[in-house]
Amino acid sequence: MGFWDAAGAGEAPHAHGDLPSLPSLCSRLVDEGERCFEHASSVGTRLAPGQPWTVLGCHAGLREIAVPIERDGVTVGALLIGGFRETGAVPIGDGVTSAAWDATPMLDAGQVALLGEMAAAVAADVALALAELTAPPPSPVRQRYDAIIGGSPKMQELYTLLDRVVRSESTVLIQGENGTGKELVARAIHNGSDRRDRRFVVTNCSAFNDNLLDSELFGHKRGAFTGAVADKPGLFEVADTGTFFLDEIGDMSPTLQVKVLRVLQEGTFNRVGDTETRKVDVRIIAATNRDLRAMVARGQFREDLYYRINVINLMLPALRERREDIPLLLGFFLDRQRRGGKGKRLADDCVARMTSYPWPGNVRELENEVERLVVLSGDDPVIEEDLLSTRIRHHSAPIVEEAVPMSSLPDAVEALERRMIVDALRRNRWNKTRASSDLKVSRRNLIRLVQKYGIEPPAAR
Ligand SMILES: Nc1ncnc2c1ncn2[C@@H]1O[C@H](COP(=O)(O)OP(=O)(O)OP(=O)(O)O)[C@@H](O)[C@H]1O
Ligand SMILES: [Mg+2]
Repeated sequence: MGFWDAAGAGEAPHAHGDLPSLPSLCSRLVDEGERCFEHASSVGTRLAPGQPWTVLGCHAGLREIAVPIERDGVTVGALLIGGFRETGAVPIGDGVTSAAWDATPMLDAGQVALLGEMAAAVAADVALALAELTAPPPSPVRQRYDAIIGGSPKMQELYTLLDRVVRSESTVLIQGENGTGKELVARAIHNGSDRRDRRFVVTNCSAFNDNLLDSELFGHKRGAFTGAVADKPGLFEVADTGTFFLDEIGDMSPTLQVKVLRVLQEGTFNRVGDTETRKVDVRIIAATNRDLRAMVARGQFREDLYYRINVINLMLPALRERREDIPLLLGFFLDRQRRGGKGKRLADDCVARMTSYPWPGNVRELENEVERLVVLSGDDPVIEEDLLSTRIRHHSAPIVEEAVPMSSLPDAVEALERRMIVDALRRNRWNKTRASSDLKVSRRNLIRLVQKYGIEPPAAR
């Protein structure tokens, strides 16, 4: 065969002197993408529907197979296999000597098709290698607030709010699902505030029964209850002049809610069993993953306390609302797992799966998954997708789309088919070879269906 050429932009470096080159095909591919192939097919070459490769004819009558190399659905180069005759082809003009013509291999339609399929498979691999080589370096990790990672618009909004919150003395209510970083943010507020050199005290209001929490928060006087063998200061006193983080405040009983309200309003309280009123200066940051407003409406949480702690409200986004931060977080946690050893990398399809997974446990769940992957991958520098937890590996991202009115079974089947294809393509970053293998259909079949449903990748960024 004349030459194999996986080419990027620019002239194809054709090696065979007798073969006509296809002038600037590659640069045209890069500039015009698929349109060039369509154009080529309209000037006497073939591109069957759903077929990724084209047979191009040159001015001398020789043939060349061309396959676009795609990245995120955009043609970035081409793989060319050229310099063969097809059964029935005749030399044209004097573009090639008769000795060279006779010396080039003669292929029948079946052999051309086979070569085309092989070229398509190689082009898909080249595309993958290209994607790995040219993956942009992770954007710099934002360290403005301790270890809070994320550059998404939702996190930027949070940072803007935090910038103001740290300068104030206000009470803050942090809300968010499990594992969204409520405690992390509370610490960041303390560390950014004028109280940073004072204590940051944490208590989890759901971890104690009412009496114990009372004594834990406010302390007790000797003999106040069985076991109270000595006077004991509570955490409000420990936190004096510092910050007190009241976690899971939604789980606090109404009785204690009253006592906390009093500290907030007057800065005063009494130890359990003690008549002496004490005064403290504590900044309170409260957190909950419960819907406090709804609890107020149901009479389960005091309205006055709700308004007193909700002076500033920080609603932390769930990880699925800021998927663009997932690669950043993965890099951050991989780095943290390094512990002086050599760094590891996640394979592209592994990152793609993790990005499309909804993470019900949010950042904590993601952090644990990275730790698990690092352990399981042993000495391998690259972590492959098959090590992922089953729930992540087998999750198919739901597609948010308009409901299709489905009047018949064929309509419903088509709607499902379309959804599954879009889903597989997204998961595989629009790589059709991988998507087709996920869907257990041939690549050719997938391309036919993509055309049938007019599915298009998002515009290249
Ligand atoms: N934005 C983030 N950047 C880096 N790490 C994060 C981020 N958010 C959370 N984490 C990490 O995820 C884990 C859980 O965070 P944290 O304990 O603050 O969440 P939480 O909202 O208080 O969870 P829970 O509701 O279960 O109490 C921690 O290890 C924390 O460091
Ligand atoms: Mg917490």
